Amino acid sequence: MGPIFGRPIITQEEMRKRIKELGLRIAEDYRDKDLLLVGVLKGAFAFFADLARAIPLGLQVDFIVVKSYGFRSKSSGQVEILFDLDEDIAGKDILLVEDIVDSGLTLKFLRKEMTLRQPASLRFCTLLDKPGRRRTDVKIDYIGFTIPNKYVVGYGLDYQNKYRNLPYIAVLDQVEDE
Ligand code: IMP
Ligand code: MG
Repeated sequence: MGPIFGRPIITQEEMRKRIKELGLRIAEDYRDKDLLLVGVLKGAFAFFADLARAIPLGLQVDFIVVKSYGFRSKSSGQVEILFDLDEDIAGKDILLVEDIVDSGLTLKFLRKEMTLRQPASLRFCTLLDKPGRRRTDVKIDYIGFTIPNKYVVGYGLDYQNKYRNLPYIAVLDQVEDE
């Protein structure tokens, strides 16, 4: 990885500004609630850490590790929980934090799975939204940035499990986003 890797489309400064806005909005919406912020790993780790610190509330955190199976960059909709939540979410106000919503199939799976556990409320927040590739109708409550149909890495997002540590979002032009 050289000093600048890929073609940056969202800079660190834009990210910082947007996460601050999202954090304040979420704090306003959950002012009188008991928020449990859930990070969907691995992809959400960087965004989650910044977002959690941008929400001025006494919230709780938890994590779930999921794997979406697919061929190359295409999701099959088959999702497996590799590591489950530590907390019982029944009766709690849950905000799931995702890296990116692409086909929407992972989000759909998580909504179904979490709803079965009967939280008081369930919402979704994603750093990136790629609406052009949606294959199922999903509602996202908080969106960082809407991006075109390009394969992106950085800030938690990977290509073959690499580049998650890039401090900005870059397009990998050499990867086809089928
Ligand atoms: P879904 O298609 O909405 O189910 O998204 C499945 C997963 O594919 C996401 O959580 C990401 O981990 C991954 N993904 C989708 N688009 C990209 C991308 O542009 N870069 C890196 N990962 C992606
Ligand atoms: Mg991934």
